[in-house]
Amino acid sequence: MLKDSRAGYGLITIIFHWVSAPLIIFLFGLGVYMRGLDYYSPWYHRGPEIHVAIGILVFAIMFLRLFWRFLSTSPDAIPSISKPTLLAASAAKMALYAFVFVICISGYLITTAEGSAASFFGIINIPATLELSSSNTDLAGAIHKYLAWALMGVVIIHAAAALVHHFVKRDKTLTRIIKPVSQVE
Ligand code: HEM
Repeated sequence: MLKDSRAGYGLITIIFHWVSAPLIIFLFGLGVYMRGLDYYSPWYHRGPEIHVAIGILVFAIMFLRLFWRFLSTSPDAIPSISKPTLLAASAAKMALYAFVFVICISGYLITTAEGSAASFFGIINIPATLELSSSNTDLAGAIHKYLAWALMGVVIIHAAAALVHHFVKRDKTLTRIIKPVSQVE
């Protein structure tokens, strides 16, 4: 039940998936919202503090997720799904991982550009490693912003494909990332 097997995903992968997906969408919404605030809004400082803290949490979860993925057996492909669809799905998953990592690293670089730490609600402080010039900070900001929008594009395609498999093709693509299976090796 806990580990992935050739028959499907285990509980750990399912929890990682459903904890990180809403947090990433929340970070996107908060990021767009906080950039539109004026200096006198009570959320002008609070918004970025929460964004950075939850961003650090997502970064940590993504590392654990990747580590767990390498430790686990991958579930077998669903036989009714064609090769090109499987390739497109795995390209989308790789893009999701890569985009989240680059977004988190660029977010960390913007946050620490002037030498201050990136803080998880004041409990854990990740110190600055590189101090960036203002043009490099702008570059990291642009990468963070455009990749976050691109990420949302891939998330929409990924979620829409899962819904098509569930409601139109009626296969187990969606249910197997909701319900853990017992291990069959
Ligand atoms: C998948 C995770 C993340 C997503 C989807 C995300 C998304 C966003 C978005 C959409 C913005 C607004 C960009 C703009 O309009 O300029 C933003 C801003 C920001 N993010 Fe993130 N973010 C994530 C992770 C992080 C992390 C891990 C950190 C820091 C450790 C971080 C730090 C920041 C900062 C400091 C800003 C404000 C940038 C500025 O004022 O120029 N983000 N984020």
